[in-house]
Amino acid sequence: MRPAVIAIVGSAMMDLTAYADVLPEPGQTLAGQLFTTGFGGKGANQAVMAAHCGAQVHFIGKLGDDVFGKAIADNFVKVGINSQFVETSSTPNGVAHIWVDGAGENRIIIIPGANHEIEVNKAIEAINSIQDLAIVVAQCEIKQEVTLAAFKAAKARGCTTILNPAPYQALSVELLELTDWLIPNETEFRELHGTLPSSDEILRSFRPGKSTIVTLGSEGAVYVSPTAELHRVSAPKVTAVDTTGAGDAFVGSFAYALASGKAPIDAMKFGVSIASLSVTRKGAQSSYPDQTEIATLS
Ligand code: RIB
Repeated sequence: MRPAVIAIVGSAMMDLTAYADVLPEPGQTLAGQLFTTGFGGKGANQAVMAAHCGAQVHFIGKLGDDVFGKAIADNFVKVGINSQFVETSSTPNGVAHIWVDGAGENRIIIIPGANHEIEVNKAIEAINSIQDLAIVVAQCEIKQEVTLAAFKAAKARGCTTILNPAPYQALSVELLELTDWLIPNETEFRELHGTLPSSDEILRSFRPGKSTIVTLGSEGAVYVSPTAELHRVSAPKVTAVDTTGAGDAFVGSFAYALASGKAPIDAMKFGVSIASLSVTRKGAQSSYPDQTEIATLS
């Protein structure tokens, strides 16, 4: 397999998570079961997952010059992520306030903080200078102008681009054009296409000529090829305790597999198996399998 060199331009957050069987109604106070502080942010989650798989990962982002930012920077070193293009800002680090209910479903409010200060020129510089770069991955927790510039630079040097449109925001036509692989979940697909991915016909009518993977939670994922062929991958039955970061586990491991030269459907199967495992544990990055466990899956 060829070495998987991946750049992730994206967010890094500290996740402050409350677990409660039942979530409060407006005006109600409830006692929960557990509070955790963990590493999160869709960009960092995808970067950590790809690094666990064995990719050479370069993170392009901005951290706060505070305790959260410092802890995230240390974690990047520990995981083996190249942080040459990670800068710090006097704006506080991004945080995510997360509620997880008894069924493992979450509700998240993010405060982007320093993530919204990544500079367009720095992102371009980074993409242009990473040797043997194969894939550039982005999400929607940073400013879209940064992602657009990074993808332009990526396509100019022949890289593959993957956009995870999460959380949903309107995407420019230009960005969609520069995106080789779009990976929305069902909700994001509905926002983008105006309807849920509830039939083959609806899926086939989305982004003709381009590759899309819709992640379907416990149902696995479906790949819509540029020629509108559909390939479904089902997920193993598991008991979900926390779905936070499962989509990121899919994107990070899929990007790794694709960059390693796996065929798209095999890369998708790999991503589904890793994401399914991640929902059986609490937290985002804390739920991801390490290299030893990943070796038992493939
Ligand atoms: O996708 C999960 C992530 O969304 C969490 O880790 C949280 O930080 C938010 O960005």
